[in-house]
Amino acid sequence: MQQQNQYLKKVYVQTWGCQMNVADTERMLAHLGTCNYKPTDEVNEADFILLNTCHIREKARHKLVSRLGELKPLKEKNPDVILAIAGCVAQAESEALAKEVPFVDMIIGPDQIEQLPSLLEEVVRKHEASKGIVDSFHNSFSPFVLTKFDGKEKGYSIPIDVVPPFYDEIKNEVSRYVNIIKGCNNFCTFCVVPYTRGREKSRLQEEILQEVNHLVSKGVKEIILLGQNVNSYGLDLIGATDIHSSGGKMPFSDLLYEVSNVQGVERIRFTTSNPHDFTPTLAKAFEDLPKVTNSFHLAVQSGSDRILDRMNRQYTRNEYLERVGWIRKVRPQIAFSTDIIVGFPGESQQDFEDTLSLVEEMKYAFIYAFKYSIRKGTPATRFHDQVPEEIKDKRLQLLLDVQKKETLKQNLAEIGSVREVLILYKNRKEEDSWYGRTNEGRLVKVQTSMPCIGFTLSVKIEDANLIALVGRVCQ
Ligand code: 5AD
Ligand code: SF4
Repeated sequence: MQQQNQYLKKVYVQTWGCQMNVADTERMLAHLGTCNYKPTDEVNEADFILLNTCHIREKARHKLVSRLGELKPLKEKNPDVILAIAGCVAQAESEALAKEVPFVDMIIGPDQIEQLPSLLEEVVRKHEASKGIVDSFHNSFSPFVLTKFDGKEKGYSIPIDVVPPFYDEIKNEVSRYVNIIKGCNNFCTFCVVPYTRGREKSRLQEEILQEVNHLVSKGVKEIILLGQNVNSYGLDLIGATDIHSSGGKMPFSDLLYEVSNVQGVERIRFTTSNPHDFTPTLAKAFEDLPKVTNSFHLAVQSGSDRILDRMNRQYTRNEYLERVGWIRKVRPQIAFSTDIIVGFPGESQQDFEDTLSLVEEMKYAFIYAFKYSIRKGTPATRFHDQVPEEIKDKRLQLLLDVQKKETLKQNLAEIGSVREVLILYKNRKEEDSWYGRTNEGRLVKVQTSMPCIGFTLSVKIEDANLIALVGRVCQ
């Protein structure tokens, strides 16, 4: 066991965006642990400030540059502090950033995570070399930029032996993400991901299972398989271009069976799954595997066929509902969630009403709803019939109001039931209070004097609001 005082330096990380970015931050922290960096929440005491950025919606660069403006005085006071931008804004806008914020030391893309320790060394060497020769802040060299996608034809690897000891100490987590596929080949017309994350590449099944076994041995109970489109998992490894040319094979479904066979895994979730290549094989996995939770995020984006077509989603409203039907047949109580974009170019009042009616029909447990935001370089930027901002605002509000009523109704209907709740973390605001999730993914505040993180408890639901259920452990 390495000594605690080995961690001589401190890293402050700010993360924006999706679960993929959260998982990337964890990997960066693990790699930084191998070169003596320990995380801190105090930006003022950091030796290294790392901003892991998201580019999915508008003003990403603007927000980042304004955050960097706040951090600039720290760098002026102490030029030895290393300032880095990682993630999707770095990948997409490195040139503009290098000009706009030249005092940043390093700009790296999502495929540079494994190289982080060696890149850091290079920056430190540069700092040292500049000492005494120039004022290293004001004569600052331009940032070191590296945003190349890995050149491998197929597959990628995330070593799992880099996890430093403190990482497990501070984490103590019950639920963990495991990356299984990166990139996306779908090219939805609104989305930057295929450009910021590159083409789909899968991790070898053996490596994924090794990581799952490692996590379980550390006490993790719930595994969340992560990818921009998990349904495509493994297709690159078997030389198929998509699910329809895979000769009836679905490596993702095979992976679910394998993960389910790992002793100690209690719950399995996965995200994100694209409806266009959701197959009956995957519905069968829901039927066969009780560890796969009773919750499912299936992004629909719109309820109008015309808009779905313009979005290049490759399914119709009816096809979406048909796939939902396959799952509801084997899991009648399953809780669906979704992503929706309002105000996509050309969205008429009728198209929006089609989305509203789909949401009402689906009875989602919850939704993530966004106003369409123009992304440079994506095909939808060229559509001339952009929707005015005020209309987007109104539609978003209406949609959220409809969903809030549904979520509240579903939560209130839980009162009186007994649910199996996996306890995830302590409630910091109240004594003897914990938070966990039901199998359907509903958040539950549980009252008990027993330390119970990682336990699955039978909980009687006594109250509910829009955000959470409240319950007591059954005796
Ligand atoms: N504008 C608004 N929302 C977007 N999303 C992706 N791109 C855009 C965009 N240009 C949303 C989609 C996706 C989620 C992760 O972000 O709903 O599923
Ligand atoms: Fe973006 Fe579409 Fe790929 Fe999802 S499936 S990451 S929305 S391009």
